[in-house]
Amino acid sequence: MESNEENKEKKTIEDLPGVGEATAEKLRENGYDDIMAIAVASPKDLSDVTGIGEGAAAKIIAAARKFADIGNFETGEEILERRKSIQKLTTGSKNLDDLLGGGLETQAITEFFGEFGSGKTQIMHQLAVNCTLPKEKGGFDSDVMMIDTENTFRPERIIQMAKSRGADPDETLKRIHVARAYNSHHQILLAEKAQDTAKEYNIKLLIVDSLTAHFRSEYVGRGSLAERQQLLNKHMHDLLRFGTIYNAVIAVTNQVSARPDVFFGDPMAPIGGNIVGHTATFRIYLRKSKGGKRIARLIDSPYLPEGETVIQIGEDGVSDGT
Ligand code: GTP
Ligand code: MG
Repeated sequence: MESNEENKEKKTIEDLPGVGEATAEKLRENGYDDIMAIAVASPKDLSDVTGIGEGAAAKIIAAARKFADIGNFETGEEILERRKSIQKLTTGSKNLDDLLGGGLETQAITEFFGEFGSGKTQIMHQLAVNCTLPKEKGGFDSDVMMIDTENTFRPERIIQMAKSRGADPDETLKRIHVARAYNSHHQILLAEKAQDTAKEYNIKLLIVDSLTAHFRSEYVGRGSLAERQQLLNKHMHDLLRFGTIYNAVIAVTNQVSARPDVFFGDPMAPIGGNIVGHTATFRIYLRKSKGGKRIARLIDSPYLPEGETVIQIGEDGVSDGT
């Protein structure tokens, strides 16, 4: 990332004490190619990719944090300043945008969860199209990355949706970069590598559809629950880091589960439980309603009131349907 503050001298990762040529190369290969990426990494991650001990990795991270000027307390005024760079992406539905205080926020993860056919994948397609739209249409005029874990990305659907928004379908397709994830490890790797793609294109939206499906099918039974949650936690933090560094929207989908051995209380709880719930900034619960309508409910938001609204998923995509 280029810093536009001219008074700050530009540091590279070789300037960090303890980072020699060989370590720098390993860091770069793994996407840790600027100070900020290292500053927000965990010692274990750095240790894993470089082979240096976790103690040494922690020292490098501490130095990166000093250079990057993070890790300190911020005043409310500074936080307000940082939040001014937050942008909002339209969902295509004015109702849902209003519920979200204007749209999906950058620098945050928004999770859509609901049962099969509730419209999660349709909404991801719509968001992808919207991100490429000009600002006056609620878009970012930017490229999109999608990690597709269930092979449900459909270019034909993008073409339909682009046309209905008056966008050039071919140009829209060129700006959506899709990677199929074959298992949870592949999915985690793709999120780690997302930064490489983001440097080449101007990516302002990263989609993971579905966030939890691979994890759910690969880690079955109580014995593997802890490991699953740990991996999901790491994955979510990688995603959030991407959103923070690139001022991008992160949109993920999640199914609901009715497994009383894992989730108590609500028989239809989102997969991933607390780990996903605590890292996602916004959670939207989708329910099917009559005639292509869906009820979208905002839950657990840090500063927006809970509430619900009706959206329409039809031929031309997501709308209010009125
Ligand atoms: P899972 O991934 O199985 O959990 O479901 P999901 O929540 O991703 O559901 P998805 O977004 O795939 O929603 C499927 C529903 O969207 C269908 O049942 C249709 O109601 C609607 N839909 C999908 N494609 C079209 C389309 O081309 N035209 C119209 N009108 N509706 C569509
Ligand atoms: Mg789906």
